Amino acid sequence: MTLALIIFIVIAKNTAYAGEACVFFDPTIFFGLVGHVAWGWEVDDSATYVFGSDDGPNNGNICGGPKIWSQTNGTRSDMLNWFKNRNYSSYNCQPVSNSAVGSANTAITTVKSQPYYWASIPCLKTSSTNCLDDVMAILNAYNATGLPSTSILSHGAPDPRTWFGELGTSGNSNGGKWLTSSQNL
Ligand SMILES: *[C@@H]1O[C@H](CO)[C@@H](O)[C@H](O)[C@H]1NC(C)=O
Ligand SMILES: *[C@@H]1O[C@H](CO)[C@@H](O)[C@H](O)[C@H]1NC(C)=O
Ligand SMILES: *[C@@H]1O[C@H](CO)[C@@H](O)[C@H](O)[C@H]1NC(C)=O
Repeated sequence: MTLALIIFIVIAKNTAYAGEACVFFDPTIFFGLVGHVAWGWEVDDSATYVFGSDDGPNNGNICGGPKIWSQTNGTRSDMLNWFKNRNYSSYNCQPVSNSAVGSANTAITTVKSQPYYWASIPCLKTSSTNCLDDVMAILNAYNATGLPSTSILSHGAPDPRTWFGELGTSGNSNGGKWLTSSQNL
């Protein structure tokens, strides 16, 4: 290979996206009313993805119990299978040109050690630390764009279903690069 060709390949690789951020949706939680979301992201432009979920409090205390944290890593198809095997139904991903793996890992360390607070009402907290909050914290740290604001939620409860559905609409209107509709698992 000539040097010019090698340089061209390096440049071509760097001008492609540097990572990918994904959100996974499970519609069945809480009798199908609010659903559940989980996260995944690519380690730079590699074939490895880190992914997982905040599965609620392990002692049933939705206002301050320790989180059930699930996390692993693997290829993109490992990731899709992992969520499919856990009954998630769909997902949406976006390319992230300035992916920040170090800060995403730091966010994971922070949120997984927090107590779980389902919602400001009824937990009497100004903020919550539920599955959706954790997805937002981790993917924001990764530098994903167009994560819909949770202020679209008017009823004081987490609503991952609405939020997930907004990714390709209000999320994309706000700088996101999500698919306009989610993919089935
Ligand atoms: C993937 O998981 C293994 C086993 O837990 C861990 O040693 C490794 O650091 C993880 N890789 C990434 C990229 O997070
Ligand atoms: C997935 O759904 C099936 C059928 O309802 C159920 O038997 C199984 O336990 C569920 N798996 C998980 C991981 O929740
Ligand atoms: C996040 O992306 C912005 C531009 O989109 C970039 O300026 C910033 O450096 C990125 N953050 C990290 C931690 O890489």
